[in-house]
Amino acid sequence: MLLKALLLFLVAHIDSVLSLNNTPGPQCRCLFSDPSCWPPADEFDSLSHQLSQPLISPVPPESACYPPSNPSGNCTNVILNSANGNWRANQSGSMESFNFETFIFANGSISACYLNTSLGVPCEQGSVPPIGVDARSAQDVQAAVAFAVKWNLKVVIKSTGHDLLGRSSGRGSFMIWTHNMKNISFDANFIPEGGPHNETFNELALTLGAGIQWNEAYAAGESYGRVIVGGTSFGESVGAASGYVLGGGHSVLSPTYGLAVDNVLQFTLVTSSASVLTVNAYSHPDLFWALRGGGGGTFGVVTSVTYNTHPPTPATLILLSVENFSSGAIAQSVVSKFLSLHPTLADLQWGGIASFDSSFFSFSGVAPDTTLAESNAAIQPFVDFVRNATAGSGETVQFSTVPFDSVYVLYDAYIASLGGAASSSAGLNGELVSRLFPRELLETEYEKVADTLLGLGDLVSYVLAGGGAVSKVDPNSLGLNPAWRKALGHAILAGGWADGTNATGIHQVENQLKGYLAVLEELASLYEKNFQQTFFGDHYARLESIKDIYDPVDLFVVIEGVGSERWDELLDCRKA
Ligand SMILES: Cc1cc2nc3c(=O)[nH]c(=O)nc-3n(C[C@H](O)[C@H](O)[C@H](O)COP(=O)(O)OP(=O)(O)OC[C@H]3O[C@@H](n4cnc5c(N)ncnc54)[C@H](O)[C@@H]3O)c2cc1C
Ligand SMILES: *[C@@H]1O[C@H](CO)[C@@H](O)[C@H](O)[C@H]1NC(C)=O
Ligand SMILES: *[C@@H]1O[C@H](CO)[C@@H](O)[C@H](O)[C@H]1NC(C)=O
Ligand SMILES: *[C@@H]1O[C@H](CO)[C@@H](O)[C@H](O)[C@H]1NC(C)=O
Ligand SMILES: *[C@@H]1O[C@H](CO)[C@@H](O)[C@H](O)[C@H]1NC(C)=O
Ligand SMILES: *[C@@H]1O[C@H](CO)[C@@H](O)[C@H](O)[C@H]1NC(C)=O
Ligand SMILES: *[C@@H]1O[C@H](CO)[C@@H](O)[C@H](O)[C@H]1NC(C)=O
Ligand SMILES: *[C@@H]1O[C@H](CO)[C@@H](O)[C@H](O)[C@H]1NC(C)=O
Ligand SMILES: *[C@@H]1O[C@H](CO)[C@@H](O)[C@H](O)[C@H]1NC(C)=O
Ligand SMILES: *[C@@H]1O[C@H](CO)[C@@H](O)[C@H](O)[C@H]1NC(C)=O
Repeated sequence: MLLKALLLFLVAHIDSVLSLNNTPGPQCRCLFSDPSCWPPADEFDSLSHQLSQPLISPVPPESACYPPSNPSGNCTNVILNSANGNWRANQSGSMESFNFETFIFANGSISACYLNTSLGVPCEQGSVPPIGVDARSAQDVQAAVAFAVKWNLKVVIKSTGHDLLGRSSGRGSFMIWTHNMKNISFDANFIPEGGPHNETFNELALTLGAGIQWNEAYAAGESYGRVIVGGTSFGESVGAASGYVLGGGHSVLSPTYGLAVDNVLQFTLVTSSASVLTVNAYSHPDLFWALRGGGGGTFGVVTSVTYNTHPPTPATLILLSVENFSSGAIAQSVVSKFLSLHPTLADLQWGGIASFDSSFFSFSGVAPDTTLAESNAAIQPFVDFVRNATAGSGETVQFSTVPFDSVYVLYDAYIASLGGAASSSAGLNGELVSRLFPRELLETEYEKVADTLLGLGDLVSYVLAGGGAVSKVDPNSLGLNPAWRKALGHAILAGGWADGTNATGIHQVENQLKGYLAVLEELASLYEKNFQQTFFGDHYARLESIKDIYDPVDLFVVIEGVGSERWDELLDCRKA
């Protein structure tokens, strides 16, 4: 016993001696233009000789509206396109939401470049990374990564800048911009690299470069006569092979074909040791597990994603809206009835979104692979319920079902049905909180859920994202939070503010969201006390151990990402 204790002591002692000799580099990253560590100009010159494109100096696009005007800037063009998600994604220094371009100092001062020039605030760089690489190939990414490691730079990977927690910006950091990696290829008999050649895969696969956005992926899918599981938003500007899929990726087709991660056959990725890896079920299967749901900007720089595709399918769009609820009780009965119906709709593989508050309710549903008659039969009892509940009390009820031959054509009509909320998601200041609702909760507590959500007194977006095929995947076969396999709905609440709002005003909006968060318990958000559990569930420890294998120097760290608890709030310095 004594001997064992002594041995343990010695082992522990040796460990601490080893780790002393092995101290990891500096505690803090080198930030832009820090004279004590920032690489000299000739080092950037030699980096640029290794790249296919010149180095970039991203600026907030709004800077074109300030003197001395950026020679290539055009303020009229900026104002015209400010709310266009595709235009914003084209600018290296633009984030989808203005506020992730800004930086709030601890003393409350804000460094920003407001679109509203009448505020009279000078334009500053904020959180936009001031320098970076416009990567077009894995070799470009390798050179960028090796340079960042050598000089201990703080790295930000950016594809479209749509991240909802601002994970693709970072004050003083070095950007690896993957937006221009636009290759697409189709393979009618895809064989994963390293896979057994005695097996036939029969996969009709689409391989997308890391800069491909959903509008481009859908056009490619359609041109090959195949359907690909992806997101929906105004302009379809979200990245199809970057943050969306690394975080899981839900789609109106998910109840039919699973989440985006359930459809990935292979990734290519550059690690922090600047190696290019092909990652699939046979090659680096641990990393393949982790990349499917372990989050963007965490394991390496993805350069391409290969997706399985599906045969073309007809689909029905279901539109129902109720305006001007005459009483809270009627709103409660409609929302509660709708939530109680969600398990049935999920079993029919419907996707879509409902939005509601105490004055209105709307549902835009997508029913793939169903006839108009089948869709009508499924929704009619709810329509009858709504008509009866609102009979004679003055609400406006509108209902229609529209058949489409192709989901790609349907998407345009679906997005149009979402109206202003979706079209104005770019070029705003805002944050959101959200939570997955398990099937069991909806089956048993739909009245309480409706009551709680309506009680918040704000607009709720409720995405029909889970169930069906999503619930049939073995939760432990991939890194994604296993909570997805039991979930049906994803409830989202957002808050926003005008340009120029001071830190006190911004914190007021944030506090309101924190209040919603408290009400909805374990919501996943900026303020999540235990992001590990909320975002990753009991897969967190394994995800972290895989991160440590492939990124031992912690080059890739993002807000509330795997391993981020080892860093301070700004992700500039390791915690002591
Ligand atoms: C208008 C809108 C609509 C949306 N609709 C949907 C939807 O229908 N379904 C859904 O599931 N989600 C949806 N989202 C959420 C969206 O999936 C996330 O915001 C996602 O993080 C965006 O990924 P991105 O690569 O486009 O954005 P970015 O902000 O560029 O990147 C997001 C994260 O991924 C990292 N990253 C980017 N590129 C790479 C790369 N090449 N390699 C490794 N890491 C990388 C970044 O560092 C960052 O952490 C929507 C978001 C918006 C703003
Ligand atoms: C600036 O942008 C506007 C709107 O896109 C365009 O009409 C105009 O020609 C542009 N001006 C210059 C100098 O490029
Ligand atoms: C984004 O850039 C691409 C490539 O230059 C261009 O074809 C596209 O029109 C741009 N989109 C917008 C909305 O400006
Ligand atoms: C707040 O802090 C920043 C950074 O240290 C500094 O530049 C700024 O002047 C400060 N603002 C005020 C009002 O003290
Ligand atoms: C811009 O700021 C000015 C000054 O605060 C304000 O009066 C105006 O309403 C703002 N414009 C917009 C579009 O928000
Ligand atoms: C993109 O495709 C072209 C043509 O097939 C090829 O030459 C190029 O190497 C590809 N680029 C990447 C990054 O895969
Ligand atoms: C392919 O070969 C492997 C290894 O030899 C074997 O385990 C597997 O069963 C084979 N598969 C088929 C479909 O024959
Ligand atoms: C009815 O609802 C519409 C749209 O939601 C709204 O614009 C209008 O003001 C409402 N009317 C009344 C009387 O509340
Ligand atoms: C119609 O609504 C009333 C209350 O408004 C309710 O008592 C009745 O049960 C409803 N009927 C049906 C068929 O839903
Ligand atoms: C912040 O703005 C609000 C509203 O405009 C104002 O009342 C408040 O005094 C401002 N606070 C600070 C610290 O400037």
